[in-house]
Amino acid sequence: MSVSNKLKIAVIGGDGTGPEVTAEALKVLAAVASRDGISYETTDFDFGGERYLRTGETLPKGAVDELKKFDAIYLGAVGHPDVAPGILEKGLLLELRFQLDQYINLRPVKLYPGVETPLSGKKPEDIDFVVVRENTEDMYAGIGGFLKKHTADEVATQTAIYTRKGCERCIRWAFEFTRKRNNPKGKRLTLVAKTNVLTYGHDLWWRTFQDVAKEYSDVEADYNHVDACCMWMVKNPEYYDVIVTTNMFGDIITDLGAMIQGGMGVAAGGNLNPDPGGTSMFEPMGGSAPKYTGKNVINPIAAIGAAAMLLEQTGHEASGLSILKAIQIVTGTKMKSQAAGKMGYSTTEVGDLVIAALDT
Ligand code: IPM
Ligand code: MN
Repeated sequence: MSVSNKLKIAVIGGDGTGPEVTAEALKVLAAVASRDGISYETTDFDFGGERYLRTGETLPKGAVDELKKFDAIYLGAVGHPDVAPGILEKGLLLELRFQLDQYINLRPVKLYPGVETPLSGKKPEDIDFVVVRENTEDMYAGIGGFLKKHTADEVATQTAIYTRKGCERCIRWAFEFTRKRNNPKGKRLTLVAKTNVLTYGHDLWWRTFQDVAKEYSDVEADYNHVDACCMWMVKNPEYYDVIVTTNMFGDIITDLGAMIQGGMGVAAGGNLNPDPGGTSMFEPMGGSAPKYTGKNVINPIAAIGAAAMLLEQTGHEASGLSILKAIQIVTGTKMKSQAAGKMGYSTTEVGDLVIAALDT
């Protein structure tokens, strides 16, 4: 991760409600930066569905090279009702993840005070773990094709690829992260995979996990099959500290995670390139929610949480944590619900409340 004296942030507000939640995140960032003396600058990029409809381009030529010059990218949301599914996902989000080699997808699953979880009887102290998802390989690599397309004999392949380098750097990062997180209940890293069926690709993951674990004797190296993990996440989420998993399974279990932490309005994530000079990207998990656009009712908590992660990952850990603390004051003592239009406050008011809570 590159950390310069002046933090350079590329901002892609994106589509639908993306720009509205981004504005709240940047508002909170500005308040914290001025309080903590963090010098930063933002540059806006208009990538997303609107631009695609206008120009036919998802990422214009040279855009990736331009973005590489930034310390971090803040992404509001991309997704447009008039753009076919897959175009923006593949042409923008996945393209950036791959081209910027953001090999870690970091998804904290944390139930904030006052937030309703569908898991009855579970409290904030029970739902507090982190998923480290590999972010560049697996079925996402885009390897495959059709044979005899549009005929009765059609064949399609979609190949999952796993490399030693790809899984090792992710697993190693996850062990380091678990060590640093230093859970007072005990440091545990759970590999989530499907070694009983995926006996080649996940065997590579399993062997690599065992090898790297030898260097981290202070961390319990644990394993769950992915189907069992789905059961435990619902039944015993308190079991988990940090999970490391493959790209496809990580995609699925992090949505389950988002639901148990109170929904898309609160879940934030980071796509990290932790290497020196790497550019990471931070985003709220909820989509562009076009039907709420311009109504000032969408929940900005996830977006503000993504800004907190941005600070944490760019060398401003204490400032990031202070945003997380303020968020929890607001969810715990102010907001009525995390659902759009039911918060008891508007989007901009929730941003104001977080700022007001920063110094309490
Ligand atoms: C996510 C999203 C993306 C993914 C989509 C939009 C391509 O679901 O970040 O989890 O599948 O990774
Ligand atoms: Mn997903």
